[in-house]
Amino acid sequence: MNTKKNFAVLGSAAAAMMLALSACGGGAGSAGGDSQTLRLALNQTETHPSYVALDNMGQNLDKNTEGKLSVDVHANETLGKQKEVIQLVSDGTVEMAVVSGTQLENLNPDFQVFNLPGVFDSVEHQMSVLADESTVSDLYASLEERNITVLGGLTQGTRSIYNSNGPINKPQDLAGMKIRVQESDVQMKMIELMGGAPTPMAFGEVYTAMQSGVIDGAENNEISYLTQKHNEVAKFFSTTNHLVGLDYVVINTDVYEAMSEDVRTALREQWAAAVEEHTALWLKQTDEAHAQLETNGTKFNDVDEQAFDAALEPLIKQYVDTEVEQRIYDAARAAAK
Ligand code: GCU
Repeated sequence: MNTKKNFAVLGSAAAAMMLALSACGGGAGSAGGDSQTLRLALNQTETHPSYVALDNMGQNLDKNTEGKLSVDVHANETLGKQKEVIQLVSDGTVEMAVVSGTQLENLNPDFQVFNLPGVFDSVEHQMSVLADESTVSDLYASLEERNITVLGGLTQGTRSIYNSNGPINKPQDLAGMKIRVQESDVQMKMIELMGGAPTPMAFGEVYTAMQSGVIDGAENNEISYLTQKHNEVAKFFSTTNHLVGLDYVVINTDVYEAMSEDVRTALREQWAAAVEEHTALWLKQTDEAHAQLETNGTKFNDVDEQAFDAALEPLIKQYVDTEVEQRIYDAARAAAK
């Protein structure tokens, strides 16, 4: 593919250098002879569905390619925060990563559409939209000029607001409350409209920030709330269910294109299997997390969904404002049951 701009060539040189360096060190990310181990950066724990599904993907790849390709998942933000990691994948320092859609909207605003409340009704709906190549292929390909290939998406499930002060029922209850958001325009505006004061911050900093009172709360799914132990420092979980979030698995384009065709096909096949496993795990682990959290003292409460829906309405108009965005939005909504 020759659609990349010049800076991607620099990326390619950097990637080659890094691969050579890590091969010398014999570490992960190494390309030695016919075998290659790709490092995949993840900001979740080893118990999170993304770790489990992608770790299995790596092992299956190793088997199916007779050791030509494997993937090592590095959990807990050890390779960097998502905002940095996306840059590292672009320049080839790290080969693969899981990044939230909120990071990709900073590279191409068209990704904002999938980060909006009201676009996906459920995990199943979200996955059916992503499975339709005609909806996502141009969007995904748009990052190749930055040397980033999007393999596809993994659900973040339904996100809700939690905090340490008390239950939230309506937007007015969030007045004056500092709520952590991902580093994204859509997320900032979203929390403002929901009534809170948005504070952007990396995922790994949220626990300490809540513990020390720098922020009052955050928004996420039950699985991350539990695996990150946020329940220890914010026990009120108000099921705003304001959006179904989306992560993407990205790979450095030079690394991807340098693979032999059979290895690339194996990667595609194992990726498809990983998405399936992830979605099934997601639904199961969400139920389990909910039950465990209830036992451990989290106070769940329902909210006035209509009041939040009404507050959030202007968001769609603001962020779906080009022909391309409208096309993506319409395709997503048309797939809703
Ligand atoms: C979810 C998502 C992560 C993201 C995190 C966040 O857990 O899976 O990719 O980083 O939310 O709120 O930052």
